[in-house]
Amino acid sequence: MRGELLDQTAYLAPRLALAELVAELGDVTEVLAERLVFAPGPARRVTWAQNIWHEPRRIEIESIKDGARALRDIQRNWHLFDVERHARRAQLIADQLPHISARPLRFPEPPPAAPLGAWTLLDRDVLLAAPRCSAPVPDGRFEFEENRREPPSRAYLKLWEALTRWGVHPGPGDRCIDLGACPGGWTWVAATLGASVLAVDKAPLDPAVAALPGVTTLQASAFSLDPAELAADGPLDWLLCDVACYPERLYELVQRWLTAGAAERYVCTIKLQGSTDGEAIRRFTEIPGSRVVHLWRNRHEATFLFHKANSVDSF
Ligand SMILES: C[S@@+](CC[C@H](N)C(=O)[O-])C[C@H]1O[C@@H](n2cnc3c(N)ncnc32)[C@H](O)[C@@H]1O
Repeated sequence: MRGELLDQTAYLAPRLALAELVAELGDVTEVLAERLVFAPGPARRVTWAQNIWHEPRRIEIESIKDGARALRDIQRNWHLFDVERHARRAQLIADQLPHISARPLRFPEPPPAAPLGAWTLLDRDVLLAAPRCSAPVPDGRFEFEENRREPPSRAYLKLWEALTRWGVHPGPGDRCIDLGACPGGWTWVAATLGASVLAVDKAPLDPAVAALPGVTTLQASAFSLDPAELAADGPLDWLLCDVACYPERLYELVQRWLTAGAAERYVCTIKLQGSTDGEAIRRFTEIPGSRVVHLWRNRHEATFLFHKANSVDSF
């Protein structure tokens, strides 16, 4: 393979979360275009990366044609990470690469399996190229064909993204609890996949979602529930939680469910507050086998994932 392998990994920060990624990595050596963050050594498990460029290479090129050839010689599929410098030249190289489909995903189809590399121009005649990236879609933007008629909120897109990236989803026969369910986007996701859902919120659920087959509603505080009682017939398959609350309260709630062994899989939104974020996230990441990720659809939030049987290795 042409070029010089860097002893670095590049991490793409979510928009508006560069500071979080830089703080999380701690030993950043360079930041390109205010988003692509370099740190020494192989890829680390971080929360604040929308995409990770594994083993990036620096490749000197002689011309636009030569740049396209260098990339094509490595593999078929490439996505240009656009930087303003040399943008036109980079686009001319991209135009000579095979077309890649940018079609939005149709949930619950899996994301593309073919490796998708990322590249950019560091200088007029220098490419930076990573054949292997963590995200199977360009820059980790998980776009879906949206359903604008049924779900009562757009929050369902967060759950679609989490399940797509995890590669698993609720199905017929599964028992789910959805905490902080109102107006009902996440409950709609689980119910339309065929699972039964207990939707819990202090506010009433959208009537159309409440009427879906398999949906039961409970107007109560998520913090007043006894996980052991709810799992009296065996652990629930999914604990979904999008409750608007401080991270510390969510952490206590998750701990109560974990201690009771009351659910198999967890997808919980951690709503962040500002200065205490790093510490709040760290406590969740220390739960063995868990992952805490920032979804493309998360705003100032992160998502906690846990599976009782296996550590969460995708993402
Ligand atoms: C971001 S919304 C959830 C959106 C939902 N996942 C959806 O897809 O439509 C947060 C919800 O948390 C609920 N909430 C806040 N405190 C709660 C509590 N103590 N118990 C249950 N729900 C609570 C709010 O009523 C609100 O409906």
